[in-house]
Amino acid sequence: GLVALGPVIGYGGWLYAGSGRSNVGRLSFRNRLRIPPLPAPTERNGRKTFVLRAQEGTAELLPGRRTRTWGYNGAHLGPTLRAARGDRVAIELTNGLGETTTTHWHGMRLPAVMDGGPHQPIGPGATWRPYWTVEQPAATLWYHPHLHRRTAAHVYRGMAGMFLVDDDGPDGLPGEYGVDDVPVIVQDKKFHDDGSLDDGGITFQGLSLTGLLGDTILVNGTYDPYLEVTRTHTRLRLLNASNARVYDIGFADDRPFWLVATDAGLTAAPQRMRRIMLSPGERAEIVVVLRPGERAVLRGHPPRMGANRIYERLTGGDDAFDLLQIRAAARLEQSPPLPARLAEPEPIPVTPRTLTREFVMGDFTLNGRTMDHGRIDQVVTAGSVEIWRVTNAGGFPANGLPHSFHVHEVGFQVLDVNGRPPAAHLRGRKDTVFVPPRTTMRLAMRFGRWSDPAHPYMYHCHLLAHEDAGMMGQFVVVSPRDRGRVRPPGGHH
Ligand code: C2O
Ligand code: CU
Ligand code: CU
Repeated sequence: GLVALGPVIGYGGWLYAGSGRSNVGRLSFRNRLRIPPLPAPTERNGRKTFVLRAQEGTAELLPGRRTRTWGYNGAHLGPTLRAARGDRVAIELTNGLGETTTTHWHGMRLPAVMDGGPHQPIGPGATWRPYWTVEQPAATLWYHPHLHRRTAAHVYRGMAGMFLVDDDGPDGLPGEYGVDDVPVIVQDKKFHDDGSLDDGGITFQGLSLTGLLGDTILVNGTYDPYLEVTRTHTRLRLLNASNARVYDIGFADDRPFWLVATDAGLTAAPQRMRRIMLSPGERAEIVVVLRPGERAVLRGHPPRMGANRIYERLTGGDDAFDLLQIRAAARLEQSPPLPARLAEPEPIPVTPRTLTREFVMGDFTLNGRTMDHGRIDQVVTAGSVEIWRVTNAGGFPANGLPHSFHVHEVGFQVLDVNGRPPAAHLRGRKDTVFVPPRTTMRLAMRFGRWSDPAHPYMYHCHLLAHEDAGMMGQFVVVSPRDRGRVRPPGGHH
């Protein structure tokens, strides 16, 4: 059947422009890894308040070149925000851009009206003031725009930052920001010769099937980066903030590392592994151990997606990318041993009677439909447990495109993948999962207790071109009392 089309599509080059661009052996690790600033919040009305400004600027992304970019409180990317469980947080976000944007707190559990999705637009010059109380376990979250049909473009220009959530007490892991606890925001870009960003293929148009796949990797906005470490153990907070590219992250020498957290929280115990696959939107925290004077290169290997090589070509081909060189000082301070146990995630009790919802990811559709701001796709009971059964059905071309499924508001547990227990890297709490073609995953989640019939949360593919093309739906979380008050959200677009 369609599999026969595979070689034509995969190797034709006109459908897929991201292959054959491996940077392995081409880098010299010349530039010190930029560490996003970690601003202290100001205390205002009993809330830890972060002031953000979305702005345009010029950044030196490639050595000696000037690139017009967007960022929060700077030319490119944004500061790392940090809050602890129980903190009352407020944001004052002013849009200094020439167009409307939004800012979404990816992975944060908060009321829908604070979520920063497509229904909370911030016009040019306007200030948006969301606030909430942090009520979730420690995790590496992030923030980025979420304006419908413009998310890919806004993120690509540089709008993204990390949001770290801490638990009440110490976690026993390396924790000095920028020293042995390091954000690693991975993005692929394409540049024109004059240094400007090339956004060709960023939207789903005609033959761009996954969206933009770049040939140049930036980590925290740094090209060709290295990181110097002075302790034996380094915690890397990995975030795939790329538009479409999937990385199978490990080290060039295949040394093992310890997985200590997935998207939505710490794992039960550190898990020794050599690779972790991250699709757009996913995070993982890993700890790597170095000997004095040693160098280790973090590498994004080509994604593994099963038997059909075409899937791989569509998400990064055979491309391997060196991401970051880690250089250990000649003398290293000995870090404390990793804790044997990290966190016991709150159980999500599933019974044979748990409500299951079906989601079919088609090519550019969800359950056969595309995003409609005025339509509520799912009505969920506040505080309830549900199973979301997500299937990448496959289809044209070559039996399907890869997708990444993200649900706002919840952290979920992957129950099974094609009926089998999830792989090690999917056993922790997640809010985004990679869904390769011909895959069915069951995700168990407990919804928050805030009832709001008027403001929806989103679920969507996190390949940003797919999201912008409409692979997104809306759900409201309501108490039984509010069920009758669910109305299609008002239009402002
Ligand atoms: Cu990271 Cu709905 O997004
Ligand atoms: Cu999100
Ligand atoms: Cu998709």
